[in-house]
Amino acid sequence: TYVVTDNCIKCKYTDCVEVCPVDCFHEGPNFLAIDPDECIDCTLCEPECPAEAIYSEDDLPNEMVHFLDLNADLAQKWPVITEMKEAPADAEQWDGVPNKLEHLER
Ligand code: SF4
Ligand code: F3S
Repeated sequence: TYVVTDNCIKCKYTDCVEVCPVDCFHEGPNFLAIDPDECIDCTLCEPECPAEAIYSEDDLPNEMVHFLDLNADLAQKWPVITEMKEAPADAEQWDGVPNKLEHLER
């Protein structure tokens, strides 16, 4: 499966959702999650993310491994998103800020 990681938090550009052939992105207030049971590893979303927040689970850096369970958990709770929407007004300011997990809204 592919996994959305830390840098999506408060950036949420949503370019990723347009390319997913199986609609496995789920939207929360300031983060997106991929449903690992739906993802078919097509690879299309990874290069679409301007924040470079999407990884294959096989390439997850050690400090991001916990995002695998987090994506699975949040995807159960949040609705599917299939169309791109405007990013938060301050998305650019948050792009690249490390360790944004404390800002995740559920
Ligand atoms: Fe969707 Fe493909 Fe990305 Fe999986 S790898 S979330 S199937 S676009
Ligand atoms: Fe997040 Fe990147 Fe998609 S910032 S919403 S994973 S395009």
